[in-house]
Amino acid sequence: MKKVLSIVVGLLLLTMAIGCGSNTSSDKSSAGKGDKQIVMGFSQIGAESEWRTAHTKDIKQAAQDAGIKLIFSDAQQKQENQIKAIRSFIAQGVDIIAFTPIVETGWDTVLKEAKDAKIPVIIVDRDVKLNDDSLYVAKIGTDSVTEGQNAFKWIDEYMKKQNKKPRDGGDKFNIVVLEGTVGSSVAVRRSQGFTEAMKASPDASKYEILASQTGEFTRQKGQEVMESFLKSYGDKIDILFAQNDDMALGAIQAIEAAGLKPGKDITIISIDGVKGIFQAMIEGKSNCTVECNPLQGKLLMETAKKILKGEKVEKNVFVKEGVFPADTAKDTLPSRKY
Ligand code: AHR
Repeated sequence: MKKVLSIVVGLLLLTMAIGCGSNTSSDKSSAGKGDKQIVMGFSQIGAESEWRTAHTKDIKQAAQDAGIKLIFSDAQQKQENQIKAIRSFIAQGVDIIAFTPIVETGWDTVLKEAKDAKIPVIIVDRDVKLNDDSLYVAKIGTDSVTEGQNAFKWIDEYMKKQNKKPRDGGDKFNIVVLEGTVGSSVAVRRSQGFTEAMKASPDASKYEILASQTGEFTRQKGQEVMESFLKSYGDKIDILFAQNDDMALGAIQAIEAAGLKPGKDITIISIDGVKGIFQAMIEGKSNCTVECNPLQGKLLMETAKKILKGEKVEKNVFVKEGVFPADTAKDTLPSRKY
């Protein structure tokens, strides 16, 4: 009897030991092999634009499709909230952390904490500037420099094709720029791409950036800043480069309120490719959108699974993006997914 009892107790202790081990970091690396549901902590910036709403929706849907448990946190446009969220993911012992950095800098400390906790990190959509790039495993997103370059190249060709003349009778086209969030990689790099392409153009001397100011990627701020551009520069403005469609849509309202025709008196190019700007292009109120693709969820989940299985992944993966001028809008709108 004594012998039977000691065998039963022994078996019980063994079962308990196996059960308690399921939270260790070595088990984290085996997540994704089918035995345990992967838990991903994801810190999103907020909901500043139509694009961002589509990005969030796509990530949530992709997590569900991939069978990944997503702990979603909305930072409400504050880096400090993102840092808090990442720390909370570490404390909860998630398998993997993903986040869209609102600004480029200031991430080294918290990402070192994630690395020390052996939790891999994926950067999504925007870029970071770090002293040590080994603090993240992969970046999935868009190429902001190319988006900025494409915006200028399209404008340059369009002004020539349309035989446009500066509205003030001078020899230069005057450009105003609505920039995105200050310090964000997308704002910095879209400006960089745009000005680089402008300087490289044989027609560089025909363009001048009159003013460039943040509209914080929102429709309301885009409208307000455009109103102030119009007050200061009135009939001098030939071109608006809005670093996202939402700001362009706000600016269109300001231009109409000033008695001008958006898309005609002022040529408008923006970035994103959301349905709202396609509608504006169909109505003749905007001229072109350079796509920034928010459908990054599937790639994110696939990459997370590979990392957790110990497979090698590309450090930088860019999603596909196109350029959509107004004359393609009517045919393209029905197939747009966001
Ligand atoms: O990071 C992508 C940018 O952020 C999109 O262009 C903009 O609409 C969004 O808010």
